[in-house]
Amino acid sequence: MESNKINVAVLFGGRSVEHEVSILSAQQAIAALDKNKYQVIPVYISKEGKWYSGDVLLDVKAFRDIPALLKQAVPVYFSHDYGDQMLYQRQSGGLFSKKQAGTRIDVALPVVHGTSVEDGCLQGFLETCGIPYACPSVLGSAVGMDKIMMKAVLREAGLPVVEYQAFTAGDWAEDAEAVLSAIQSKLHFPMIVKPANLGSSIGISRADDPEALREKIELALSFSLRILVEQAVDPLREINCAALGLPGDVEVSVCEEPLNGKEILSFEDKYLSSGSSKGMSGAKRRIPAELDAETTELIRSYTAKAFSAMDCRGVCRVDFLLDPKSNQVYVNELNTIPGSLSFYLFEPSGVGFDQLLDTMIRAALRAKRDADRLTRVYDSNILAQGGFKGKK
Ligand SMILES: Nc1ncnc2c1ncn2[C@@H]1O[C@H](COP(=O)(O)OP(=O)(O)O)[C@@H](O)[C@H]1O
Ligand SMILES: [Mg+2]
Repeated sequence: MESNKINVAVLFGGRSVEHEVSILSAQQAIAALDKNKYQVIPVYISKEGKWYSGDVLLDVKAFRDIPALLKQAVPVYFSHDYGDQMLYQRQSGGLFSKKQAGTRIDVALPVVHGTSVEDGCLQGFLETCGIPYACPSVLGSAVGMDKIMMKAVLREAGLPVVEYQAFTAGDWAEDAEAVLSAIQSKLHFPMIVKPANLGSSIGISRADDPEALREKIELALSFSLRILVEQAVDPLREINCAALGLPGDVEVSVCEEPLNGKEILSFEDKYLSSGSSKGMSGAKRRIPAELDAETTELIRSYTAKAFSAMDCRGVCRVDFLLDPKSNQVYVNELNTIPGSLSFYLFEPSGVGFDQLLDTMIRAALRAKRDADRLTRVYDSNILAQGGFKGKK
């Protein structure tokens, strides 16, 4: 019966450079959700940041012409009243026109990548509304979007990370020579220069000498005000592994080795090389990665540890850098909402995409129940008790 189903809002798109990748990931998730259990409500956030719903969003082909699609889609907004959990159709009659019937959302499944949607902003909005959501908390999402914060948290958790030096656009403007000498006293060439808060390899490049270092930093500064320079792992093998669930109750996937001919896995390598519309699941890779049993288990245990250290929930992918000469493993980064939700990493252990989504939704509902059980100090009114003297 329709009414017994859980209403799942699949949120996708957003004001992010990874907008299109999100559309592909979301369409894959929508196709895989078990329609006997869930009523799927697609919610698309345009590149301008406007929110839409409607059945037209269920057809991936409709996204070839987005202006035409938006003419057919229904503008919507979430009630921001805590616990209301309603998605309403936006009316042209203005704010005070008659409220239209809406749809109650039981759980949100954010399938979004990049800034403004994966970085804690959308998660904070869902917290404000009181809607359970199937991805990491505001804290984990924000830390996951900033490679400088993320490295600090991972290192503090006892996980191995490469040596690095971080600085801001302000530091660079004030004294670029001092920044360059601090980097070169800590690291040796080759180095990798990264904007701290982008994804999909945008603005990331390798520097082999001081001149290139300065140049690559200038390039990275055109993308971000926060920069990270890392010791390059060279030679390099890249290994990824995903975790699913909640801290303390995680399922870890097999490992994969993405395959590419270039030094830095580019946006094209990650998403476009297969020429198909499969998103991250279409990229070239070896599954499971060819690794000895010990390294495999080490990577899998680091994956669960990183997932907990960053307050993750849902499905997250941890990317590793492996030096094949020394066999040293480093945690490179954690993707809080990975491309294609990493479904292809769970299939080899018999977990279908539909089951992966079931687990994500269960984790979202459980996290909300756990949060609701916490004592909220503001539930009592200290003003009602008299004697309030204000803050000293
Ligand atoms: N320290 C490093 N040494 C060697 N290669 C690196 C290093 N860090 C990143 N890379 C290369 O750059 C790519 C993108 O870097 P990454 O930190 O994963 O950023 P993104 O968030 O854009 O995926 C990696 O997949 C890898 O190919
Ligand atoms: Mg990466």
